[in-house]
Amino acid sequence: MVWLKSKHEIDLMRVSGKLTEQTLNAVRDIIKPGITTKEIDAFAEDFILQHGGKPSFKNYNGYPASVCASVNDVVVHGIPGNTKLCEGDIISVDIGVLKDGFHGDAARTFAVGSISDEAKRLIEVTEKCFFEGIKFAKDGQRLGDIGSAIQDLAESNGYGVVRKLVGHGIGTKMHEDPDVPNFGRAGHGMRLRSGMTIAVEPMINMGTYDVFMESDGWTVRTKDGKLSAHYENTIAITDGEPEILTLTD
Ligand code: MF3
Ligand code: CO
Repeated sequence: MVWLKSKHEIDLMRVSGKLTEQTLNAVRDIIKPGITTKEIDAFAEDFILQHGGKPSFKNYNGYPASVCASVNDVVVHGIPGNTKLCEGDIISVDIGVLKDGFHGDAARTFAVGSISDEAKRLIEVTEKCFFEGIKFAKDGQRLGDIGSAIQDLAESNGYGVVRKLVGHGIGTKMHEDPDVPNFGRAGHGMRLRSGMTIAVEPMINMGTYDVFMESDGWTVRTKDGKLSAHYENTIAITDGEPEILTLTD
């Protein structure tokens, strides 16, 4: 069941979205060679709590941390730990915030120090995929319009679009209907309506789209060991341009 949010509910989602964005921006500023992903997690958790939010991911289906920290070939759901980031790594940080009953969910991929041109290009194209996709995030368009736009841009750059994980509706629950795939066929799938709030989150691999899950039950890695990037925002569908609730600055 897809729930259309009222104007007041979107006002509340703007608040949780803003704190999600602020947390990611604060995390961006502490990322450097030598820091551990556990330190990033502790910093983000503290930031969220200090600003009156709760980290949505903590204990979600047993997830043990407040953020996902996915380094290099880790696609998503990397569990923060004691390994130090190295110059040249890329790290995708995914953060969820619950505030006043509503969730915000967003992810960015950051460079650690200076990175290769090919890694830079992957990060840039992944962000562009999001913006291509949300050109179709409007009342009356279909979910397949978003997915096919993302897929076309990624594949025309020679990249693989992860199939096993998708975006999602979001609101009082972090994961609501509908699924929002980063692939698909234009003109197909559920019709978008003003008041829908969804997380659009391309996960783009430098090589094959195929992934596997590690034995910890969370960490998802590329099958070929090549790099992967992730870019996510929570958006609200309107009659006109979508409102990006986790990207306002
Ligand atoms: N942010 C992820 C998503 O976009 C969810 C993280 S799963 C968790 O769907 F267990 F870490 F919370
Ligand atoms: Co999400």
